[in-house]
Amino acid sequence: MSVNEKDVELIVKQILNQMGGSSALNTGSESGKSYSRTYGASVPEKARVAMLVDKERFEIKEFPIPEVGDDDILVKVEGCGVCGTDAHEFKRDPFGLIPVALGHEGTGEIVKMGKNVKKDSAGKDLHVGDKVVTCMIFQDDPEITMFDLNKQNVGAADVYGLLPDDDYHLNGWFSDYIFVRGGSTIFNVSDLDLDSRVLIEPCAVLVHAVERAKTTGILRFNSRVVVQGCGPIGLICIAVLRTMGIQNITAVDGNAKRLEFAKRLGADKTVDFNDHQGIEALTKAVEDSFGGHLADFAFQCTGNPKAHANIYKFIRNGGGLCELGFFVNGGDATINPHFDLCSKEINLVGSWVYTLRDYGTTFDFLKRAKAIGLPLSELITHRFPLEEINEALKTNLAMTGLKIAIITPPGR
Ligand SMILES: NC(=O)c1ccc[n+]([C@@H]2O[C@H](COP(=O)([O-])OP(=O)(O)OC[C@H]3O[C@@H](n4cnc5c(N)ncnc54)[C@H](O)[C@@H]3O)[C@@H](O)[C@H]2O)c1
Ligand SMILES: [Zn+2]
Repeated sequence: MSVNEKDVELIVKQILNQMGGSSALNTGSESGKSYSRTYGASVPEKARVAMLVDKERFEIKEFPIPEVGDDDILVKVEGCGVCGTDAHEFKRDPFGLIPVALGHEGTGEIVKMGKNVKKDSAGKDLHVGDKVVTCMIFQDDPEITMFDLNKQNVGAADVYGLLPDDDYHLNGWFSDYIFVRGGSTIFNVSDLDLDSRVLIEPCAVLVHAVERAKTTGILRFNSRVVVQGCGPIGLICIAVLRTMGIQNITAVDGNAKRLEFAKRLGADKTVDFNDHQGIEALTKAVEDSFGGHLADFAFQCTGNPKAHANIYKFIRNGGGLCELGFFVNGGDATINPHFDLCSKEINLVGSWVYTLRDYGTTFDFLKRAKAIGLPLSELITHRFPLEEINEALKTNLAMTGLKIAIITPPGR
């Protein structure tokens, strides 16, 4: 993925500002906080945390598990996906976070919680033994568009796996235990299997993109849909569409293995761009895949500006396009506004990350995808134990797999 570090840096700075530099450890009697009663099983005194101590170097460190306050939750980590952002930080530390406990696509089991903790952020009961995920939600800054700020029933935000180390240390999901402070956004997802839980965060991106697409009024049951790009993002896009009952899906990529997987996740046809020289031939191939029709709707799921320019050609007059391939600045794309946009009356929407509501919808999507037999868990091509985290990040950077995950071995 091509990345403009300044953009990512800006996002992280916004997060840091949002958190107000909350690095002080408020535990025990010094802070006046009481720890009258907690519920839960006995836990070890120390936890292992994969701490990024230098560029391309995690070290497994041991830290005491903090006292669980009345509003806090201690979670035993079962797994955490490796995100492009983690790989970026691992390689270059563009945000200056080192030392940092990374990992934000994690899930695990509540082993201890304070007496005031009763419900998750959606109002669902929480108990020791429940499986949970955290979610990065900003509520107070109207400049941040990535989350729906109008949602009720959520407490103050907290961010895990993306902030510099503090005195708690158990701040990222690349660890044995994570310490979730009171007021953080947390969801009870006990009804999802481990692989599904690890995939929640990237899947929420596609649930949001499809919701954005639906605002055009063009995406319908029988729509002909092109999904361009079959990395994890495009593949999950296909699965979301398929789960909604959309069948006429053509996947476009240059990677035969990924195109094959696209079919198993719900694509009806595939087009390998290597087989077609020039945009006209490629457009003809897409048209042929729909029996001589252009697409009603297209999802652009690559970070390649050229691919953005191409995709207009695949769409019929009056059709729709959702561009979601540029999480960060990937450069400029050249289109012809007259031919590509105006005269075709294309309905264009952009999509970036997700809202809180999309998170809830994602839980349902994952259940339905499993129910109709989509092999989503095969998106996780590599699983590493915590102590092999450096290798996991290098595998992610090598781009040989799809989704890389740190998974706690059974019984540990
Ligand atoms: N909107 C969001 O909130 C959001 C969130 C996460 C990721 N993203 C972005 O989505 C993009 C895809 O993510 P990913 O993890 O799947 O990446 P990826 O690099 O694994 O996959 C991209 C795929 O696009 C294919 N591709 C490249 N050029 C192409 C072209 N011209 N035509 C057709 N296919 C082409 C590649 O072969 C590859 O399979 C990234 O650029 C990422 O930044 C956006
Ligand atoms: Zn992520």
